[in-house]
Amino acid sequence: MDSPDCSAPHALPTSTYEQLVQAVVDYGIYMLDLNGYVVSWNAGAQRIKGYRADEIIGQHFSRFFTQADRAAGKPAWLIARALSQDGAQDEGWRVRKDGSEFWALIALDVVRSPEGEIIGLAKITRDITDRRNAALQLETMRAQLFQAQKLDALGQLTGGMAHDFNNLLTIIIGSARLAMRSSDGARVTRLLEHILDAGERGSQMTQQLLSFARRNTLKAERIDLARLIESLRALLSHALPDGIELVLEIEAQLPPVEVDAPQLQMVLLNLVLNARDAFEDGGLIQLRASRRTLKGEWDNLHGEFVQISVSDNGRGMDAQVLPRIFEPFFTTKGFGKGTGLGLSQVYGFARQSNGCINADSTPGVGTCMSLCLPVWQPPSNESES
Ligand SMILES: Nc1ncnc2c1ncn2[C@@H]1O[C@H](COP(=O)(O)OP(=O)(O)O)[C@@H](O)[C@H]1O
Ligand SMILES: [Mg+2]
Repeated sequence: MDSPDCSAPHALPTSTYEQLVQAVVDYGIYMLDLNGYVVSWNAGAQRIKGYRADEIIGQHFSRFFTQADRAAGKPAWLIARALSQDGAQDEGWRVRKDGSEFWALIALDVVRSPEGEIIGLAKITRDITDRRNAALQLETMRAQLFQAQKLDALGQLTGGMAHDFNNLLTIIIGSARLAMRSSDGARVTRLLEHILDAGERGSQMTQQLLSFARRNTLKAERIDLARLIESLRALLSHALPDGIELVLEIEAQLPPVEVDAPQLQMVLLNLVLNARDAFEDGGLIQLRASRRTLKGEWDNLHGEFVQISVSDNGRGMDAQVLPRIFEPFFTTKGFGKGTGLGLSQVYGFARQSNGCINADSTPGVGTCMSLCLPVWQPPSNESES
């Protein structure tokens, strides 16, 4: 007498499986044979790609690819990859029946017979065009915000620079006048040296300003922090009034980080200018950079980081202000003095760089803002060449 096999899980009848797969409309789910010909087709695949099952079964799946991807051999490459690595994933443009394109997220998995032999490939396709557009839009907004912030900071820097320029011009004009009246050759040479020196300093100042103001596209690259912070000091020397001292403490041999350099410069500038604004009449700003291992204490991050902290002994923040500082447009500064966008940009940058930003503040004592950025890791599958 037959008894039910208790060791096997209760299998659904095949038809129920088919009904299940068929009913899914948000995902295209279909099978390919080992050569890339379509073997089965569900409602989701029809909705996303536009073909009915009877039109597409038996056709090669390369027709879903763009002309360029087909020419580059991508369909065959994906199959080979799925077969050799037990599956493959891809994201990119695909073509519908009507010729329109959509941004697809796909997974290819190998299907085996009960004996373990590979008999086909299961393909799951999602149309994530909307999600991609939203991400691109966000990126454009971030770039715009960044540019607006930069102009704001630039205004603050140039205010101080106009004063420095005036001093340099006074030296140049005064020395030139004296030189014209003098018949002492050695003295004229000395005066000309003053003129040259002042001219060179002026030209350095405009160079720094121009390289900061240039509109760049965002690009992550390996950054030598010590160099970046040094060039920031040069920019800042014009924006900080006399009573404010800026002290840098950069640990020797800091490991590199991988971020967009102008954005990082902008972020540090924001933090230092906020510290500047926290003083009634003067004080000390410390900018420190050192290595730090995080074990989940901040934003649940683990691993090797570089911590850059900007601390001031200014007025600090109370419990009403502190929790809100990263909100866009939150500012306690008067009209025309603050935009409330500085720290929200810092926050966005930290998140985008897989790092974090932390604020620690005591009213009447001061504030410490700490930015952690992951240490640059060499790609594991590439040799150093
Ligand atoms: N170092 C600091 N000391 C005291 N308050 C600060 C400091 N940094 C930021 N804040 C507070 O956070 C608010 C938001 O900062 P931010 O986003 O840079 O905008 P903004 O500087 O334009 O006001 C500031 O208005 C200020 O109240
Ligand atoms: Mg600010």
